[in-house]
Amino acid sequence: MLKKISALVLVGVTAVALTSCGKGDSGTAAPGGGTTTMGFSQVGAESGWRTANTKSVQDAAKTAGIDLKFSDAQQKQENQIKAIRSYIQQKVDVIAFSPVVESGWDTVLKEAKNANIPVILTDRSVDSADKTLYKTFLGSDFVEEGRKAGKWLTEESKSEAGPVNIVELQGTTGSAPANDRKSGFAEVIGADPKFKIVASQSGDFTRAKGKEVMEAFLKSNPDIDVLYAHNDDMALGAIEAIEGAGKVPGKDIKIISVDAVKDGMQALADGKISYIVECSPLLGPQLMDLAKKVLAKEDVPARVVTEETTFTQEQAKKVLASRQY
Ligand code: AHR
Repeated sequence: MLKKISALVLVGVTAVALTSCGKGDSGTAAPGGGTTTMGFSQVGAESGWRTANTKSVQDAAKTAGIDLKFSDAQQKQENQIKAIRSYIQQKVDVIAFSPVVESGWDTVLKEAKNANIPVILTDRSVDSADKTLYKTFLGSDFVEEGRKAGKWLTEESKSEAGPVNIVELQGTTGSAPANDRKSGFAEVIGADPKFKIVASQSGDFTRAKGKEVMEAFLKSNPDIDVLYAHNDDMALGAIEAIEGAGKVPGKDIKIISVDAVKDGMQALADGKISYIVECSPLLGPQLMDLAKKVLAKEDVPARVVTEETTFTQEQAKKVLASRQY
């Protein structure tokens, strides 16, 4: 009985989630006439970054006159696969999605290809060997983000003999940003044996999980010098855990995170976070441009990398007021 109820709830959620965001203002013409329709499968609503990304995609679709069918997968790959299949059935003109994890997409991507519906990857990539399964991938260089975090720590700890004990809050297990931010950071700090990652676990990119995992880290590791969090939300949750343990975030434990969303930047300006590597969620306008080009059969680059920067505490104070998200 319980199983039946859960199944009904899931069907209901998917049905609600697969709603259209309305026709665009001017109405971009589809290849066969009519308005261009894009099916977009979003990862979820796990972080401030994700909320800003969703808004950017929805606003840009409206501006571009593209009819956006939007679905929220609630961080579940099976929901994304269902959404993509539904978009194929609805014969949308183009499918865009941000894959929650890297593996396991070949079958559904082949179904889209067989239906002649082009696919654009946005934000996160897939590990498919067959690169013809999608037209382009728009998003950040997550390995480079991890390297930037490692370079700051190396510079910051120049005069310290070590050991420098680091705990790491990873993003969603199996996701491209978790895999790549981990490897980029490890590559840089691995050059100096004084850096020790004493604990590393997923906080699923959420504030609640970040807090929970940091509480466990603090209990089992009395001597933590640095927290490297794969996103601001987990860092913000961890700050609550650190304060709850009677320690001062940013002083007793230095914190490096990724994203630069407003709440993260506020914590950086307040001295609680030590350094943030930016990951821009404002991908909507570029995504719509790429979709139009793909549908017009114009050449698009296989990879479009987002431009990003980094922020110190002083830089955060200067830009905080003008931060869009
Ligand atoms: O894929 C981008 C990552 O996903 C962001 O850094 C994180 O906040 C989000 O959940």
